[in-house]
Amino acid sequence: MNGIKQLIVLSLSLLAAPSFAQPKGAVYLDDKKPIEERIEDALSRMTLEEKVAMCHAQSKFSSPGVPRLGIPEVWTSDGPHGIRAEVFWDEWNTAGWTNDSCIAFPALTCLAATWNSEMAALYGKSIGEEARYRNKNVLLGPGVNIYRTPLNGRNFEYMGEDPFLSSTMVVPYVQEVQKNGVAACVKHFALNNQEQDRDHINVNVSDRALYEIYLPAFKAAVQKGGAWAIMGSYNKYKDEHCCHNQYLLKDILRKEWGFDGVVISDWGGVHDTKQAIYNGLDMEFGSWTNGLTWSASNAYDNYYLAMPFLKLIRSGEVKEEEVDKKVRNILRLIFRTTMDRNRPLGSFGTEEHALAGRKIAQEGIVLLQNNKNILPVDLTKVKKIAVIGENAVKRMTIGGGSSSLKVKYELSPLAGIQNRVGKDVEVTFAQGYESPAVAEQDVKGAKVPEKKVIDVEGLRNEAVSAAKNADVVLFFGGLNKNDNQDCEGVDRKEYSLPYEQNKLISSLAKANPNLVVVLLTGNAVAMPWVKEVPAIVEGWYSGTEAGNAIASVLMGDVNPSGKLPFTIPVSLKDNGAIAMGEYPGNGKEETYNEDIFVGYRWADKHKAKPLFSFGHGLSYTTFAYGKVEIDKSKASANDKFTVSVKVKNTGKRTGSEVVQLYISDLESSLPRPVKELKGFKKIQLNAGEEQIVSFTIGNEALQFFDDSKHEWITEPGKFEALIGASSTDIRGKVGFELK
Ligand code: BGC
Repeated sequence: MNGIKQLIVLSLSLLAAPSFAQPKGAVYLDDKKPIEERIEDALSRMTLEEKVAMCHAQSKFSSPGVPRLGIPEVWTSDGPHGIRAEVFWDEWNTAGWTNDSCIAFPALTCLAATWNSEMAALYGKSIGEEARYRNKNVLLGPGVNIYRTPLNGRNFEYMGEDPFLSSTMVVPYVQEVQKNGVAACVKHFALNNQEQDRDHINVNVSDRALYEIYLPAFKAAVQKGGAWAIMGSYNKYKDEHCCHNQYLLKDILRKEWGFDGVVISDWGGVHDTKQAIYNGLDMEFGSWTNGLTWSASNAYDNYYLAMPFLKLIRSGEVKEEEVDKKVRNILRLIFRTTMDRNRPLGSFGTEEHALAGRKIAQEGIVLLQNNKNILPVDLTKVKKIAVIGENAVKRMTIGGGSSSLKVKYELSPLAGIQNRVGKDVEVTFAQGYESPAVAEQDVKGAKVPEKKVIDVEGLRNEAVSAAKNADVVLFFGGLNKNDNQDCEGVDRKEYSLPYEQNKLISSLAKANPNLVVVLLTGNAVAMPWVKEVPAIVEGWYSGTEAGNAIASVLMGDVNPSGKLPFTIPVSLKDNGAIAMGEYPGNGKEETYNEDIFVGYRWADKHKAKPLFSFGHGLSYTTFAYGKVEIDKSKASANDKFTVSVKVKNTGKRTGSEVVQLYISDLESSLPRPVKELKGFKKIQLNAGEEQIVSFTIGNEALQFFDDSKHEWITEPGKFEALIGASSTDIRGKVGFELK
C-alpha cells in the first residue's frame, strides 16, 4: 500500500515539475512576469560577448542565442510567399532536406488584387503556421514597397501602387502571422522601388511623397499590425544606407511611430560599423559570407556588428548601453516568439493551406476585358480547347530571387484545365514561344543548360494551327521569374511582353476569334493587341494551386472579383517616374520628381487614360450603383461624415464587387492629387440582390502631409466623395464641406 502511495506522490511530483530544466533562479523564463522585466533580467545575466554575438548572423539565416542561459537562436526565413527551403549553413544553395517542401501562396500582387482584408488574414494565418512548423521565428515578409514603375523587377512581391490599399492589406497579414509566435519582418524599409543599383542608389524624395506615398504601409504594419520586426532596405536615403539610417530608423520608425520591435538588415545591407551601432539597426545578416572567401567561423566575426563592435566597446569608445539597446529589442523578439510557451505548434504543407492559397488566388485573379462575354468558357458548347503558351506549363514558384520556393507541388494552368474539363473536352497544348533556359536557382552545382536555337517561327506556326482547330483558345503568357522579368536583383528592360509574344498573340487572334489571353505576371505589360483579343485575364503568380484557381475562373465555377492594385498604362511614357526622366537614376542618385503623383495619381493629373485602371476588374455579372448619399453636407474638424450608396447585382449570377471610395480635395493650400483612395468594401450579392454600402470619412481621409510644418494637416474647405468600380469608373459623387 505504502509503495503505491509513494509511487503516486512521485508521479504527481513529476507531473508538477517544470517541463524542462531551467538554469537556477532563471527569472527571465518565468512567463508570468511582464516581458520588459524578463528582458532586463536576461540582459543582466549576459556577458558582453554574448550580447554582441546576438547582433549578427551565425549562418545564412540564423543568429545565435545564449546557449548557457537557454536563450534560443533566431531563425529567419523568406518569405513572403512561402517558407523557403533550408539552405546550407554558409551558402545560398539548398541543403537538400527532404522535409522542407512548402505550400506556395499567391504572390503579394495577387493578394492585393483581392481587395479583401479577410484574404490577407487567411494568407497571414496560413503562412504563419507554415513558418511556425518549420521552427522559424521570423518570416522575412511581407513586402510593401510602393509600385512606382512597371519596370521594377520585384513588384510581384509587393502590394501595388496605393498606400491606402497596401496599408489595409498588410495589417491582417502581420497580425495573423504573429498569432503563431512568428514575427513578420516587414520589408524593405524604405524607398526600395527598383532593383537596378539597389545596393547604393541614393533616393531623393520630398517629405510629402515619403509620408503620403512610401511610408503609410510600413506605418500601418507597425502601429496597427503591431509588427515585431522590420527589414532595412539596400538603397540609400539622405546619403545613408537604409539599414543604418538615422532618419528612417531612429527619427521616424522609433521616435515618431514608437516601434519596439527589431530592425534587421537586408542581407548584405550593412556597410559601416559606426552607423550600424548608432543608427537604429539591431541585427546584421548576410554580410560577405559565402563559405569560400572567408572561412565560416571567421566570416561572422568580421561582420560590422561583430568583432569591430566588440572592440569599440572594449576600448571604451562605444558605450555598452549601445549593445544593450539592441539586445533588448532582440530579446523582446525572442520572448514574443520562441520563448512564448503558449504559442501554437503550426502546420506545414497541408491541404488546408493549399486550399487557402487557391481561395486567395481565385479572389485575386482579375478579368480585365471580356468582349462578347466569351468567358466563362461554355462547356456545353466547347468541345475542343487549345491551351497555348509556355506559361501554361512553366513553374513559377521557382526563380525570381529570394522568394523562390521548393514546393510540395505546383499545379500548372494546363493541368488545372485538364482536371476541370475532364474527358469530354479535347485539350491540346502548343508551347507557342520559349524563354531561354536558366539554371535552377539555389541548387548546388546547377548549370545553365546549353543554349539552343529557339525556333520562334516554328513554335508560332504550330500554335496557330492548334488555334485554328479549336473552339476556344486559352493563351497563357506574360512574364516569368527569369532575370529581367519578374525577378529580384534586376529590373525589366522593356515594357513589352518578351519572347515575341505580341506577334504570337496577334497571329492567334487572326486564327481564332475566341481567344482568351491570360497574363501571368506581377507587373503591368504593354498590350498592343488589346483590340484584337476579346478576353484578357490577369492571372498573377498563384502558387501551388495556380492551375485549379485559374481553371475555376475561366470555366465560371468562380466569378472573378479581383481588381488591379496598380495602373496598367498604355505605354511607359504614361508612368510618372519614367515620364519625368528620372528612373532609374544616374547610377548614384535618383530623384522622385513625380513626387506624390504615383500610379493613378499621375494618370489623373495628366489625363493619361490608362489601358486598364487602378481598381479595375470585371465580373461575370453586372452591378448598378445608386445615388451617392451623405448624412450631412457640412461638419467641423474631428466630426465624421457617412457616405452611402446602394449597389445592386443586375446580372444573372452571384458575384462580388469592390466598392471604392475616393476623396477629392477641392480647395487646398498645397497641390493634391485629383482623388485618392480612402476606403473600399468587397461585398457579395446574389443575382438581383442589393445592399447599402457605407463609408465613414474621418480626418485621416482628408489629411495631407505639410512638409513645411512636418505635420499632417486637415484643412477646412470643400471636398467630394467619389464612389466607383475603379479609379476611372466613378459611378457617383457627393460634395461636402469641412468647416
Ligand atoms: C532580399 C530580402 C531577403 C533576403 C534573404 C535579400 O537579397 O532583398 O528580401 O529576405 O535576401 O534572402
